[in-house]
Amino acid sequence: MGEAEKTLYGFPLKWVSLVTLVVQNSALALVMSYSRKAKPPNELSYLVSTAVVMSEFIKLVICFAVYAKEEQALGRLSLQKVLKDLFGRDSHWKKMTVPAVLYFIQNNLQYVAVQYLDPATFQVTYQMKILTTALFSVLMLGRTLSRRKWTSLVLLTLGIALVQMDGKTTEAKSSGMQQFLGLLAVTIACVLSGLAGVWFEKVLKGTQASLFLRNIQLSVFSLIPGLIFGVCLMDGAAVRQDGFFQGYNKWTWGAISCQAIGGLIVALVVKYADNILKGFATSLSIILSSIASIFLFDFKITFLFTVGAGIVLYATHLYGLPDSVPEPKRHNSDTS
Ligand code: C5P
Repeated sequence: MGEAEKTLYGFPLKWVSLVTLVVQNSALALVMSYSRKAKPPNELSYLVSTAVVMSEFIKLVICFAVYAKEEQALGRLSLQKVLKDLFGRDSHWKKMTVPAVLYFIQNNLQYVAVQYLDPATFQVTYQMKILTTALFSVLMLGRTLSRRKWTSLVLLTLGIALVQMDGKTTEAKSSGMQQFLGLLAVTIACVLSGLAGVWFEKVLKGTQASLFLRNIQLSVFSLIPGLIFGVCLMDGAAVRQDGFFQGYNKWTWGAISCQAIGGLIVALVVKYADNILKGFATSLSIILSSIASIFLFDFKITFLFTVGAGIVLYATHLYGLPDSVPEPKRHNSDTS
């Protein structure tokens, strides 16, 4: 059975992973934003560098547990095997250093962005990664997108912008400089997201190693710059003075868990679906979180929201339609 057809309790894994991503993404922006902004007065803020490292560490532990279980079931778990799989000649570990470092920077920028932007603006501008991902898919995977698919990508971006423009009016405005810094952080994060995602997909689908092994490599190579540059060089003095876990509360752990769980789901989506479909799933999550806000925060559905949501749903439908003209031959590693 091909990877794309695998099932969980009878449901195709492709759709299970996409739906889970929609739900996870709905929570991420809100929890992360809240964790940066809502802290009791006179309390220290937590250090972003430690949060990024903790989330990478959680992913590493989970992925290692799954990998070890798989290897143990095959009766071949040993330290030698682990080292060979991770760093041996055929492990392709060097290729994994690139997305690891890109994701490390992107994960830090996400916190910068939510600090300066309101959650709604953050969510919409962050959707630009759908376009950067499509662009890198074309450039690096040799994927060709029909005109219909490009149209649906543009429509998607437009729809999301309308939905978000609507919600933004209720949020407090940040200063011009803060807005600029936030938008700059988001823009760079989108470019890194597209490049790292497509690079990871290419290595994953073009080589034999399991998803969990690849993610162990990813976490290891993100943890190294995270600890050296983030925790030691950037925040070394603060960590020595008030400790690694300064300013942590339940919201900090919520943001860390959301980022870690999100990373794992993204990995599954890229394996069982693809990077562009991932973008559509996260867009749907914006609508889902807005609908949840009706019940949670008395959010009012307006004309602009309805039009935007309609365009997003239509774009998603359009993207899913089969192309009438067969697509030209794809790159070997592109199996989706
Ligand atoms: O926003 P985007 O979808 O690009 O976010 C990707 C997130 O997923 C990053 O936080 C990255 O660390 C994580 N990730 C992961 N494992 C993968 C791919 C992405 O943990 N295989």
